[in-house]
Amino acid sequence: MIPVFKPFSDEKEMRNLKEVIDSGWWGMGPRTSEFENKFATYIGAKHALGLNSATAALHLALMCIGVKDLEVITPSMTFVSTNHAILYNGGIPVFCDVEPDNLNVTAANIEKLITPKTRAIIVVHYGGYACDMDPIMELAKQHNLYVVEDCAHACGGRYKGKMLGTIGHFGSFSFQAVKNLSTGDGAMLVTNDDEWATRIKRLRWVGISKDTFERGAGNSYDWFYDVTEAGFKYHMNDIMAAIGLAQLEKLDWMNARRRNITEQYKEAFATVPQISVPPVKSYMFPACHNFVIKTERRDELRQHLMMNGISSGVHYYPNHLFEMYKPYYKELPVSETIWKKLVTLPLYPGMTEDEFKHVIRAIWGFFKV
Ligand SMILES: Cc1ncc(COP(=O)(O)O)c(C=O)c1O
Repeated sequence: MIPVFKPFSDEKEMRNLKEVIDSGWWGMGPRTSEFENKFATYIGAKHALGLNSATAALHLALMCIGVKDLEVITPSMTFVSTNHAILYNGGIPVFCDVEPDNLNVTAANIEKLITPKTRAIIVVHYGGYACDMDPIMELAKQHNLYVVEDCAHACGGRYKGKMLGTIGHFGSFSFQAVKNLSTGDGAMLVTNDDEWATRIKRLRWVGISKDTFERGAGNSYDWFYDVTEAGFKYHMNDIMAAIGLAQLEKLDWMNARRRNITEQYKEAFATVPQISVPPVKSYMFPACHNFVIKTERRDELRQHLMMNGISSGVHYYPNHLFEMYKPYYKELPVSETIWKKLVTLPLYPGMTEDEFKHVIRAIWGFFKV
C-alpha cells in the first residue's frame, strides 16, 4: 500500500541519535537547547520551547493566556487536540466556520463570534496553507484578544513572507510522526514574550524552577530546586532533539519536495472537473503538509484507491459534531457539508515518481478521464 504520510530520514538522524545515546545524556539537555536555539533562529522567534507534543504546547499556551470561563474562538475543522486544549484550561470553545477552498477560519467569520467574554482566537493553518492573518490580527488588536497559531501542519510555511507561528502571540508546532518535521512525537512552542517563556519552562517540567541539566551545569550537581506551581511532564528530551536537529537541516528541502508533488497533482487533476484542489492564494507560501481534494464521490473514490493499493484519509470530522463537544454545538454550514467531500491523498517528501503517478492514474481511471 502507498501510505498517506511517511516520515523522511537519512543517515544524519542515525548519526545524531548514536551521538546522544553514546553521550549518556538522554533526557532534556544540551541537544534540546541546541534544537530550541536553532528552531528559534529558523522561525525568527525570541523563544522556542521544546515539548513532547503539540497537544501539550496548546495546553500551555492557553494556560499562559488564561482562558478559564472565557471564550476561545476556534475551528471545528481540525485535529481534536486544538479544542481539547481549551477544555483542559476550563475555557469555552466557540466554533468558527471555515472558507470552503482552504478550510481556514477567516476574520469575517471570527468577527461574528466575538462577545465580551472572548479572550483568544486559535487559528489552524490547515494543510500548511496560511490563514489570512492581517485582518485576524487587526481584529484581535481592536478587541484585545490573544491569537494562538496552531502550526501543526505549517512548519516552514509563510504568510506574506513571514514565518507562520510568529504572527500571533504563540505558535505551536507538532513534530508527531507524520508532520513536515518529525521527531516521532514532540513539539515546539514559540513566543516573543519573556515571562511566558520562563513560565513554560517551569510548567513543562512539573513546575520545577530549574531543570536537571541547568542544575548540573557546573561540576557539582546542585540538588536544590523549588516547585512553584503544579506543572506537567511535557518536556522534550535529547533523543527527540537529536532527530529534530537532523530534520530541521532538511526541512526546506522536504517542503520543496511536498510543493513539487502538490504541483504535479494539481496539473494532473486540472482535467478532472469532478474534483477541486486547495488554491495557493497570493499571501501563501504553503508548507504543503497534506493534499486534500474535494469530491462528491468521496467514499467510492476512497474504496477505488484502496483496491489499487493506495491509502487515503479524511481530515477532519468536524470537532463540534463529536459527542463530547455537543454542548458547544453551533451550526457551521461549510464545515458540516464539506467534510463529507474530503479525501487526503498520499503526500510525503520521499514519494517516488512511480508512486504519485500511480495515484494520478488511479484517479483518472475512477473519473474516466
Ligand atoms: C491541527 C493539529 N493540531 C494539533 C495537533 C496535535 O499535535 P500532537 O500530536 O503533537 O499533540 C495535531 C496533530 O495531528 C494537528 O493536526
